[in-house]
This record gives sequence, C-alpha cells and structure tokens, in this order.
Amino acid sequence: MGHRVCPWWLGYVLASPLRRLLQDPAAIIRPYVREGMSVLEPGPGMGFFTVELARQVGASGRVIAVDIQPRMIAGLKRRLAKAGLLERTDARLAPSDSLGLQGLHGKVDFALAMAVVHEMPSSSRFFAEVADAMKPGATLLLAEPSGHVKKDAFDAELQAAAAAGLELTDRPVIPRSQAALLKKPGS
Ligand SMILES: C[S@@+](CC[C@H](N)C(=O)[O-])C[C@H]1O[C@@H](n2cnc3c(N)ncnc32)[C@H](O)[C@@H]1O
Repeated sequence: MGHRVCPWWLGYVLASPLRRLLQDPAAIIRPYVREGMSVLEPGPGMGFFTVELARQVGASGRVIAVDIQPRMIAGLKRRLAKAGLLERTDARLAPSDSLGLQGLHGKVDFALAMAVVHEMPSSSRFFAEVADAMKPGATLLLAEPSGHVKKDAFDAELQAAAAAGLELTDRPVIPRSQAALLKKPGS
C-alpha cells in the first residue's frame, strides 16, 4: 500500500464545484448523517465533503476534520467560513505519525474516509484509531478512487478494517469509487 500524499494544490481541484457532476456530496452522505451527530472526517482536503457534513449535522452537531497538510486545513477553514459553518467544525492539523484523535474515544457517530486511506502510512493504524473514536454502533463510510486503488488494495484495506473490529455491512455505490460501509459492533 502506497502513502504518497496528495499535493496541497490538488485540494482546489478536489473541492471544485465541477466535481459535483461526478459525485454529489450531499447525496453520498445523506443516508448516514443526522442532526446533532458528531462526525469525523480524516483527510478532508479543502472540504468538498466537509461543508455538506457540517450542513447536515446542523447547529447542534459537530464535524472533526483532521488533515496532515496545513494548506489543506487553511483552504478548508476558508470554505467553511464562507458557508457560515466554521463554528460547528473542529479543523485539526494531524501530527505526522497519527490522526491525533485524543479526547475523541467513543464519541463519534459517523466517520467518512473518502480517498484518504491509500495515503496513510499504515491502514491498520488508521482503522484502529478511527474505530477507537467511534461509538458502539457507529458507522464508517470508506471510499477509494477506483482509478488508482485497485481491487486487491481495497480488499487489503477491508482486511485491516476487520482486524480493527469493524464489520462490513454494505457496499454502497459511489461513482468512480470502491466503497464500503463499516460498523463498530454494539448498540
Ligand atoms: C486525495 S485527498 C482527498 C480529500 C477529500 N477527502 C476529498 O475526497 O476531496 C487526501 C487527503 O488526505 C490527507 N492526508 C494524507 N495523509 C494523511 C494523514 N496521515 N493524516 C491526515 N490526513 C492525511 C491529504 O493531505 C489530503 O488532504
């Protein structure tokens, strides 16, 4: 599994409104997000999904978005501020060796990992950290670009998720992606 990190300038391309022609972020997350939820988004880039997550959790909800690149976080904050959604978002710069999720143990209702796990130095560590932050019964929507994450690599990610105790419950259809819905066992 490679871990070349997406260059910061690609953040502008990924957050472009033109991407909606291929992937509608509101429709992709709507089945999983409710008002008042705490949502975790590792690797948000400049916020193509984060803005919709913040909208859908409402004023009583919270989005924790964690990225390793300061310029992604800066672009993300600009977009959230423009949409009037910055206050319900906690945009964090991750340390290089972990997601830095201290204080989130068992607090997350839903997590979104969109086009990010293949960039992680260790998918095992990634899933262990995210699973630890999830409440029992919480779900993680995992999606990877089918263009450069092939079936074998995605299957290896699913195995790492299973080793972290996450159960595969669905294979949602997301254009140009391989996707899986994973659940932390419990209520
Ligand atoms: C391909 S972009 C996807 C961005 C966004 N999820 C989307 O779909 O538009 C991958 C993002 O993951 C971030 N990333 C890579 N390695 C990371 C790490 N170890 N911890 C947190 N974020 C990371 C990158 O900086 C980048 O913003």
